[in-house]
Amino acid sequence: MSETTAEGGTLDRVLTLELARVTEQAAIAAARLRGRGDEKAADQAAVDAMRSALNGLSIDGVIVIGEGERDEAPMLYIGERVGKGGGPQVDIALDPLEGTTVCAKSLPNSLAVVAMAERGSLLNAPDVYMEKIAIGPGYPPGTVNLQWSAEDNLRSLADAKGVPVAAITACILDRPRHARLIEAVRSAGAAIRLIGDGDVAGVIHTTDPEETGIDIYMGIGGAPEGVLAAAALRCTGGQMQGRLQLNTNEKRARAERMGVVDPYRIYTAEEMASGNVMFAATGVTDGNLLDGVRFYKDRITTHTLVMRSYSRTIREVRAHHHEPG
Ligand code: FBP
Repeated sequence: MSETTAEGGTLDRVLTLELARVTEQAAIAAARLRGRGDEKAADQAAVDAMRSALNGLSIDGVIVIGEGERDEAPMLYIGERVGKGGGPQVDIALDPLEGTTVCAKSLPNSLAVVAMAERGSLLNAPDVYMEKIAIGPGYPPGTVNLQWSAEDNLRSLADAKGVPVAAITACILDRPRHARLIEAVRSAGAAIRLIGDGDVAGVIHTTDPEETGIDIYMGIGGAPEGVLAAAALRCTGGQMQGRLQLNTNEKRARAERMGVVDPYRIYTAEEMASGNVMFAATGVTDGNLLDGVRFYKDRITTHTLVMRSYSRTIREVRAHHHEPG
């Protein structure tokens, strides 16, 4: 996509809207299985729909963050080529159904998500955990740091925002591994929005605290979701750091095969998703930022966030789909 930069991002502009179609199709497919208690079926439906939509695009795409490694994921595996070929060479990070459990239980904030960037721009992260910290735009660089304590990060953010720590809300995945973090955040005086799943949405929510009530995302979630969230923040502005959790030899070896040299490295959003980045997410279930798919007698509606780092334009697309025939 280098030629697009010189021309003012013309091709990106077209592709950005194409990406919305990709997440819309995955979200509709998953939403048909919302609340059925069958995570696998909902995920598979989203994968099939997303793959077929991606293969309709005029791109030469490679999946770098996908459904898993080739031997464990038959479709949208890491390294799979997608698109009609012949178009721009792009890296793709995707999660056809982010929040499979949430969707199966019909709870808030499950999404269909895709990010696309120039070839070589997205971190090839193994499917391990990543420690993350993220805040939205408008704060001085270096406002938060993974190497600081939770209390120091909350104080620094509160100072930058010009409010007491008590006015800050952190979003954290509700997991036993976060017991100490939760205690530290509460004793610092901040509030916590505990979420059951879906930390891509958790990070994106920091970009609009007035709407979502969330100022900062903290804690350990999936590394693939970390790269997707970093791509979103590149488009909205905001700060994020992530550190892979490579606590076994097997995980370190897997990461090394994917090009990770320093297992303790802290990556910024720019290092996880560099260059021109495009991002789209469609709500599967209702959430703070996006409505879920709605099925009417004569149409289906979707709500999508689509954006690109080149212009920092953020679009909300509400689409009405009519079933063929
Ligand atoms: P899935 O869509 O794969 O179910 O992931 C949901 C999720 O909550 C992610 O948002 C998060 O990064 C990860 O799971 C956390 O992993 P775990 O459930 O193992 O704590």
